[in-house]
Amino acid sequence: MTLPERIQLTEVGPRDGLQNEPEIIPASVKIDFIDRLSQSGLLEIEATACVSPRWVPQLSDAVEVLKGIHRRDGVVYSALVPNMEGWQRASDAGVDKISVFTAASETFSRKNTNGSIEETIERFMPVTAAAHDAGCRVRAYVSCIVVCPYEGAVRPEQVASVVKRLLDIGVDEIDLGDTVGAATPADMDSILSEVGQLVPVQDLVMHLHDTRGMAAACCLRAMQLGISRFDASCGGLGGCPYAPGASGNLATGDLLYLCEGLGVQTGVDRQITTEAGRIIEEAIGRPLTGRTYRADSSS
Ligand code: HMG
Ligand code: MG
Repeated sequence: MTLPERIQLTEVGPRDGLQNEPEIIPASVKIDFIDRLSQSGLLEIEATACVSPRWVPQLSDAVEVLKGIHRRDGVVYSALVPNMEGWQRASDAGVDKISVFTAASETFSRKNTNGSIEETIERFMPVTAAAHDAGCRVRAYVSCIVVCPYEGAVRPEQVASVVKRLLDIGVDEIDLGDTVGAATPADMDSILSEVGQLVPVQDLVMHLHDTRGMAAACCLRAMQLGISRFDASCGGLGGCPYAPGASGNLATGDLLYLCEGLGVQTGVDRQITTEAGRIIEEAIGRPLTGRTYRADSSS
């Protein structure tokens, strides 16, 4: 079995993980959570989202969180940014990197960002230019790479055409999102054979949700196909408020456990991520569901 020697993990728990939580979590708790994660060896943490507070009230404290965290040397702290207003807030707060986001499905794009795919990409043009002027890298998410919660199946060619538009406007990195956690390993083959014609597979990031328990299986298949960059969320927190039926991301502990067993290096200390999970678990008042997280918590 051919696997990467090492993978790079972006922890998205503080953003994807928390955006769907109904009870507002104090900024101080989010800061403690991120600070603990920062001690685990993670090299990138998506800390929050500078989106409209009307759309995602839970993350309306984005600036406070970004300004409050204790930045660790070598760790990149990023934030989701949908438009220039978001860029202004993120850059004022000293973000290292931003993530713009669109979708391979028109309906999801409208429900999530009140704009068509093309309108979102037009919004990203000045954002990308301003971020680059400020020396900030730009990640671009493409959601619904397999299934849209409103339109159903999405063809790999649709995904590739949105990736092409994003590359045209100069984003630095493409992150492929299985927003509702519908993918099986076979989808990794079909998507990567299309998108791999536009971007070297080793430069792509895979963002899997674990709604059907398939995320680790997809991750293994993606690694075999040459992917070495993944997003994961502490304890399996997560979900998009505009994607009905979606549950949390591939859990960080599950990804780490998988890689440990396969001899793939991550540089991340699983126990510290478990300790970080406890901070959030206490705040939300219910157990996190990540399987390895649960096993590690009870051992
Ligand atoms: P809109 O309502 O069309 O925006 O939303 P607008 O420009 O008309 O502004 C409306 C109000 O929001 C105004 O305030 C603006 O100032 C304010 P008012 O004057 O009414 O008081 N506003 C902002 N405030 C702060 N920061 C901003 C900002 N922008 C506007 N950046 C918009 C359009 C894109 C802003 C909105 O739809 C939005 O914020 N959407 C974000 C939804 C979201 O965050 N979804 C979850 C993240 S995506 C995801 O989870 C998928 C992913 O994980 C990958 C995967 O799993 O596939 C990434
Ligand atoms: Mg997501």
